[in-house]
Amino acid sequence: MKRILSLALAVFLVFAFLDSCSKKQGAEEKQKTSQPAKQKPKYIFGFSQCTFEDPWRVNMNREMEEAVKNHPEIKLIIANGENRNAKQIADVENFIVMGVDLLIISPREAAPLTPVVEKAYDAGIPVIVLDRRVLTDKYTMFIGASNLEIGREAGKYVAERLGGKGNIVEIEGILGATPTQERSQGFHKIIDQYPELKVIYKQPGDYKRSPARQVMENALQAFEKIDAVYAHNDEMMIGAYLAAKAVGREKEMLFVGIDGQYEAVKMIRQGLLDATFVYPNGSKEAIEYGLKILRGEKVPKELILSTLRVTKDEALDYEGFKSF
Ligand code: FRU
Repeated sequence: MKRILSLALAVFLVFAFLDSCSKKQGAEEKQKTSQPAKQKPKYIFGFSQCTFEDPWRVNMNREMEEAVKNHPEIKLIIANGENRNAKQIADVENFIVMGVDLLIISPREAAPLTPVVEKAYDAGIPVIVLDRRVLTDKYTMFIGASNLEIGREAGKYVAERLGGKGNIVEIEGILGATPTQERSQGFHKIIDQYPELKVIYKQPGDYKRSPARQVMENALQAFEKIDAVYAHNDEMMIGAYLAAKAVGREKEMLFVGIDGQYEAVKMIRQGLLDATFVYPNGSKEAIEYGLKILRGEKVPKELILSTLRVTKDEALDYEGFKSF
């Protein structure tokens, strides 16, 4: 009798368990169907980013991902070129094979990346070039700020602060990248008008902090008097400042950079550095205009974004972009 009872209890428990499972499943299914159906992406955007190494690029990627969140019809794939032309070329080749609907590219250097951009364009893929240019007009649209103008504005600032006289160290970005060339050209257009204002030392720091610090260490050893450092981005300006500070010479000179990054702006506010120029990354515009292109709307060939000089005055209202 006891055995029969326990058998009956076991059977009862098994049925009770199965029943509760089926109820739970029903509830889950209900939950699934009561949520709005997730839209399947209609377009694949391939973004070939030259590097993920520095704060400006980290912020650019993040802002692009943010912009895509409002557009469930887009699937964004970001490829890391790892600061190597060959890797970035392979990334674009990969996007072509995948058949992305739109290619967005911020090329590491202009000449090496030009053929693969042309290849994508010739394959019928619309191309948006961001911030750094390529040496062809086989692209749909360029989005970025004017580096010539930034260079000129930096030149005017240095000339004015130094009263048209002094020794300048120029720390350049990656030599084959168009912003490097334009930031230098614009700067020299102004500086060269002053016979007593001279660039006494000019070396590339590859847009990175530690090579720039090394460049500045060499300049400090070679020259007894430096009145200004013009660095092609904020990371390099900070590297130069650290080199000067290490030998107690940071108060001898002005520090001017480009980008408007948080750390640099904070140091400007503290009076340690002097000026930066906000360099917008164009990522939001790339998403917005990319959609227009795919919808068949007419877009301009060039979209030039505005810049802003940030000295101590403006640094009170302007925070700078963060990469963390
Ligand atoms: C980041 C960066 C920026 C600079 C831009 C120029 O990789 O070096 O600091 O403003 O690229 O293309």
